[in-house]
Amino acid sequence: MHLFSAMFLLLMLAALPCEALYPSPEEGWQIYSSAQDADGKCICTVVAPAQNMCNRDPRSRQLRQLMEKVQNITQSMEVLDLRTYRDLQYVRDTENLMKTVDGRLKTASENPRSLNPKSFQDLKDKVTQLLPLLPVLEQYKTDARMILRLREEVRNLSLVLMAIQEEMGAYDYEELRQRVLLLETRLHSCMQKLGCGKLTGVSNPITIRASGSRFGSWMTDTMIPSSDNRVWSMDGYYKGRRVLEYRTLGDFMKGQNFVQHLLPHPWAGTGHVVYNGSLYYNKYQSNILIKYHFRSRSVLVQRSLSNAGYNNTFPYSWGGWSDIDLMADENGLWVVYTTIPNAGNIVISRLEPQSLEVLQTWDTGFPKRSAGESFMICGTLYVTNSHLAGAKIYFAYYTNTSTYEYTDIPFHNQYSHISMMDYNPRERVLYTWNNGHQVLYNVTLFQVIKTAGD
Ligand SMILES: *[C@@H]1O[C@H](CO)[C@@H](O)[C@H](O)[C@H]1NC(C)=O
Ligand SMILES: *[C@@H]1O[C@H](CO)[C@@H](O)[C@H](O)[C@H]1NC(C)=O
Ligand SMILES: *[C@@H]1O[C@H](CO)[C@@H](O)[C@H](O)[C@H]1NC(C)=O
Ligand SMILES: *[C@@H]1O[C@H](CO)[C@@H](O)[C@H](O)[C@H]1NC(C)=O
Ligand SMILES: *[C@@H]1O[C@H](CO)[C@@H](O)[C@H](O)[C@H]1NC(C)=O
Ligand SMILES: *[C@@H]1O[C@H](CO)[C@@H](O)[C@H](O)[C@H]1NC(C)=O
Repeated sequence: MHLFSAMFLLLMLAALPCEALYPSPEEGWQIYSSAQDADGKCICTVVAPAQNMCNRDPRSRQLRQLMEKVQNITQSMEVLDLRTYRDLQYVRDTENLMKTVDGRLKTASENPRSLNPKSFQDLKDKVTQLLPLLPVLEQYKTDARMILRLREEVRNLSLVLMAIQEEMGAYDYEELRQRVLLLETRLHSCMQKLGCGKLTGVSNPITIRASGSRFGSWMTDTMIPSSDNRVWSMDGYYKGRRVLEYRTLGDFMKGQNFVQHLLPHPWAGTGHVVYNGSLYYNKYQSNILIKYHFRSRSVLVQRSLSNAGYNNTFPYSWGGWSDIDLMADENGLWVVYTTIPNAGNIVISRLEPQSLEVLQTWDTGFPKRSAGESFMICGTLYVTNSHLAGAKIYFAYYTNTSTYEYTDIPFHNQYSHISMMDYNPRERVLYTWNNGHQVLYNVTLFQVIKTAGD
């Protein structure tokens, strides 16, 4: 049973400014947003209120408009859903065709004589068949614009809510505001899920900066939604306590405008992550996880990860006390490690971000010492087979189905020594520390979005 199903149902909205101060669910508008259920469905649904006595109230016009807006959002999302699914089928069909054409072009270029007029015509026909792919790609771009539009609609929605609030007086301002915030968060998360999928490609690297020693880690906040653009850098893997905090990526590139945090306990490895304004890291020579809150400069919680190997017992292939690797994706906070009972195979646990309690655990069966690094995207753990040149993404473990597969996803390991690799779900990029260089990669995710009724 997925934790996600538990998140399936949610919320609320818009107190009716009628007789009842707080309407019962049968009276108010309700929005159900499935972040992503077990079948991969992602739908935001609105339930309209039953007819009630408010209809003649002048404010009901505003509220009707509100409902319409929210329904528009729902419709847009359903269209997006359908379209993605349809395009997926199309892309699948076209893929085989492309492979055939590609093969023939290769033969033709190796041996031009093999291309007689008939096979040339054949090839031309195939290419013609491929032409319709262009509008599909165009459509994908339109979808991206649609997501922007959705965001705007949500913003407008909160404006409308504010207007209602003004008419109503200030008595439930805070409550209304909280509800709007919640709505925005949920819709945002739903939109994020629409973009979730399976990793199929990694872009060329972009080197952001060359700084620090051979080993280290750097990151931005991984929480969705977050408007926090600070960059954190932690040089070294051994007994470090100094975290540099830069105001922006631009400042990080220039090495300017930073403040320093001196952690009360030293860290081990490079598997740290910043999630919702706190740094989560492994305390040196222990299997203790620490949550350090940047704003208050204090440790909020520490907890031992039971049985987890530490102190270079089960590091990644590059060593460096990398026994315990914390990370975040669209689904929340995770820790990757191993134990003696698991015979050194990679174990994944989902963590509760406030208490650091383990919520659920998976045994991937993949030996941790044979892994270069690992990172989580959309609930799937991807493992590289080396930290050195020639590394590729070699193994994927799907927590949604507790299954794995071997993969062959290449990427360019430009500086030949990767000591940190983490996905940032907010920016959809991979952050890496490669031999004293801070490097980013874009990722391509293949979307499989099922529509209701499939
Ligand atoms: C909802 O969408 C329809 C059709 O696109 C549009 O005419 C209408 O103005 C929209 N309503 C609101 C409140 O945005
Ligand atoms: C949001 O509101 C602004 C100002 O009222 C309007 O111009 C814009 O079209 C609205 N956007 C959407 C997506 O409804
Ligand atoms: C599990 O997740 C992967 C990748 O995130 C996705 O491709 C796959 O369809 C999901 N499987 C199910 C049954 O939801
Ligand atoms: C993020 O942190 C704030 C307080 O700093 C807290 O209220 C909120 O619940 C946190 N969100 C998550 C998803 O942990
Ligand atoms: C960690 O390993 C070092 C040797 O590398 C050893 O001296 C130390 O006692 C170990 N500490 C713990 C807590 O296991
Ligand atoms: C990722 O893609 C975006 C949009 O195409 C581009 O602006 C950005 O530079 C790319 N980043 C990397 C690391 O390739």
